[in-house]
Amino acid sequence: MKILIAASEAFPFCKTGGLADVTGALAQVFSRTDDAEVVLFLPRYRNVGGGAFSPKAAGGSFLIPVGNRVETATMSRVQWGKVAVYFIENPKFFDRPGMYRTAAGDYEDNDERFIFFSRAVLEGAKFIGFKPDVIHCHDWQTGLVPAYLRTLYRIDSFFAKTASVFTIHNIAYQGMFPKEALLKAGFSWLDFTPERLEFYGGINFMKSALIFADLVTTVSPTYASEIQYRPEFGHGLEGVMKHRTSDLFGILNGIDEEIWDPSTDTFLERGYELKSFQRGKAAAKKGLQKDLGLEENKDIILAGVVSRLDRQKGLDVLLKAAPDFLDKMQFVVLGAGDPGLADAFGALAAADPKRVAFRTGFDEALAHRIYGASDIFVMPSRFEPCGLSQMIAMRYGALPVVTRTGGLKDTVFYNGEPKDSNGFAMDNADEGQLRSVLGHIVSLYGWRENWNLMVKNAMRGDYSWGKSAEAYIKLFNIAAQRRQL
Ligand code: ADP
Ligand code: GLC
Repeated sequence: MKILIAASEAFPFCKTGGLADVTGALAQVFSRTDDAEVVLFLPRYRNVGGGAFSPKAAGGSFLIPVGNRVETATMSRVQWGKVAVYFIENPKFFDRPGMYRTAAGDYEDNDERFIFFSRAVLEGAKFIGFKPDVIHCHDWQTGLVPAYLRTLYRIDSFFAKTASVFTIHNIAYQGMFPKEALLKAGFSWLDFTPERLEFYGGINFMKSALIFADLVTTVSPTYASEIQYRPEFGHGLEGVMKHRTSDLFGILNGIDEEIWDPSTDTFLERGYELKSFQRGKAAAKKGLQKDLGLEENKDIILAGVVSRLDRQKGLDVLLKAAPDFLDKMQFVVLGAGDPGLADAFGALAAADPKRVAFRTGFDEALAHRIYGASDIFVMPSRFEPCGLSQMIAMRYGALPVVTRTGGLKDTVFYNGEPKDSNGFAMDNADEGQLRSVLGHIVSLYGWRENWNLMVKNAMRGDYSWGKSAEAYIKLFNIAAQRRQL
């Protein structure tokens, strides 16, 4: 089966969050299944191409209409294991400081940037002669690809047998633009109806995928249900979602167990596994406390956060609850995003630098060290399509403190019985509930036998891609068969 993955980010090439981990991991797992040939298309952002990978020009160029202009696309290529990675290049659109935005906000031409990318994916596939059985698209940035296949490219024989599967990683980000985007994308006003591309008078890239993709998936079973039945989760698309109930599947994400492996992690002071986690985590804690200027104390509870700073993640709630626990806990927060939240964590750290450390920016090495050193990992999300951080934390023996929503609900189990629990959960991102859970944690931490039991449960969990990758391949086959009919 020929699988083309179209995404706006993939680890290790470009990453802002879990989307990149997932697209990167899927490309690799799919490529290892029998008979699969996998090609990954990504935009060539400014920061792509350093490190171990240096893409080579793929030769030639092609033109992509954007509104009444034409823009030139070139491609570069790198072989990544069995995956051929193609970068779509256009310096005007992608050679910029950020991938989607700067501190000042989203790029104003994000509609044009991802219209260009989505169409260049299809033209690029033709350019390299790769006729996919299925195009697997991810999030709004590639939402137009399924729509193109069923409109402008409907009569293109190259794609006659190509199915599309669209995966929702976060329905809160939809790619909504004024109606002029319809023409920029090359659609006609005939498509500007609520059944097709129109959305409250404008264009919504994610909606267009939900309408036109052969199958739709999202990244956890609970989130699949939340986005259909609870308006506060569907962000206005719950009606469209419900319309496709029988074509919507919740497939739980996994984590890359090679990248996230405490026994081989070179960012840690010493590797550790189930049998040696106490020594390994103590060494990681000591090292991190020292390097971040925290009080060096092996008995204090270290609470870690590695996160985008965004309302979704509920960290404003942690900001309110944390000051009450500074005599019993240390907080290490690594986060980038909302400047208001960053300032607030910065101020908390400045007021008590022995107990709170805050680092902003994107820091892979520090992230690994935080997972290794932490006793608990705080993730009080208001909603969470899947969440990878809680799974990484569990693999590293840091007990997650989460809300019962989306993928957090599907992966973190807490029923008050340590032997059946692998973390802590509360119903809502609420200051009072978080205080109560943190209070409980303070008392349980002293009860080492129970604590260690929970850590072992967490570390033993299966966070691999095995079953989920199989589920995707099954769906690809179903989608491809439908196109044969
Ligand atoms: P989301 O995709 O919503 O941001 P996930 O939990 O699915 O949340 O994935 C987050 C991923 O991004 C994890 O791999 C996490 O370690 C990483 N991450 C988030 N913020 C940072 C940061 N500031 N520096 C390094 N890694 C980060
Ligand atoms: C999104 C979601 C996160 C999910 C990730 C990968 O960024 O916010 O919950 O884990 O995508 O699917």
